[in-house]
Amino acid sequence: MTTQLTPEVTWTGVVDWSLRMFHSYAVPDGVTYNSYLIQDEQLTLVDTVKSSYASEFVHKLQQVVKIEDLKYLISLHAEPDHSGCIPTIFGLNPEIVIVCSTPAQEILKTIYPQLKSANFMTVTNESTLQLGKNTLKFRMTPMQHWPESMGCSMGDILFSSDIFGQHLASTERYVDDFDVFRVIMRMEDYAANIMNPFRVNVTKTIQYYAEQNYQHIFPAHGLCFQFDNCKVAFEVYIKFVEQKVKQNKVVVVYDSMYGSTAKAAQIVAQGILSKGFEPVLLNAETSSNAEIAYALFKSRALCVGSATLNNQMMPDLDAILTYAGQLQHLKGMKFCAFGGCCWAGTALTQIVNKLNEFGAECVGQFGWILKCDDQQLQHLFELGQKIVEALE
Ligand code: FEO
Repeated sequence: MTTQLTPEVTWTGVVDWSLRMFHSYAVPDGVTYNSYLIQDEQLTLVDTVKSSYASEFVHKLQQVVKIEDLKYLISLHAEPDHSGCIPTIFGLNPEIVIVCSTPAQEILKTIYPQLKSANFMTVTNESTLQLGKNTLKFRMTPMQHWPESMGCSMGDILFSSDIFGQHLASTERYVDDFDVFRVIMRMEDYAANIMNPFRVNVTKTIQYYAEQNYQHIFPAHGLCFQFDNCKVAFEVYIKFVEQKVKQNKVVVVYDSMYGSTAKAAQIVAQGILSKGFEPVLLNAETSSNAEIAYALFKSRALCVGSATLNNQMMPDLDAILTYAGQLQHLKGMKFCAFGGCCWAGTALTQIVNKLNEFGAECVGQFGWILKCDDQQLQHLFELGQKIVEALE
């Protein structure tokens, strides 16, 4: 089903209800790939969807438009979750003009060699395109999320691409008809797992967008925003770019073998709590990369605990720290390390070295052999207090 969003814009996207992993990013609420049809004198499509949904996408479009009548296809972002059906549309309408940034043209022709004979029109910052009554205005947003990314506006409507996106499957299109708190959580989760490394670039874009007084925001994923709810989207992103999203929380992530490190994590958490901060306890074996990235996004510090296995830290924990470090959640973050072992306490050293490499700062560490006695448990409690004291 398509949805009329405004008199001139119709949602023609697809909902991926079953997807649970988006290239290593766990998406428990599924995904929506948004595409928008602008019905003006020049019929225009903004973005397509993932190629696995080509049949459904074409069927949807045919309900509201003849594909051969489309004049322009705006490709805001060449990543295949949005560009995957451009070759399908081009196959049905070889005269269509693909409008994109200069780097996007090269990327699209490389991913889809069949587009080498397509009509491309490249645009740059502040380029405009007359559709009839409406004019599109383009805004380059490089490295938000890829180098070729851009947004475009039409009057008070913003097509924002990945910015303001959320991974959510829903039959509703506007936030007004949905659970706003879930949308906020998924928008933050998206920022934590996709946009975080590009925060400085996003800052400039958000500052520009905030001055435009948009009444509709149509992102590439998830729910759309209109009127007062546009403020909801801006509040999340302003907090993100101004680094005001962090609360008085400390992530305690651990991986245990026979329960000694798990018990230590509980004691560290009690020490954190005794200082008025909220511990966020996560077992690396049962938590997704994305959950931990989100927890770090909202927290001010980190405690990491691991048993030693084959002279290494536990492999699930190692993978999670790599994922979080690559997303730049560890840069500048204070941390404590702890861990139990049988005979070789190398996990502790590995944790400290790894987090240091990602730009984090160690403020304490504590290891033990086999099982903690009461004095060692007290030391772990104090380690939890120490991480909070380091933030004061
Ligand atoms: Fe939804 Fe960066 O693609």
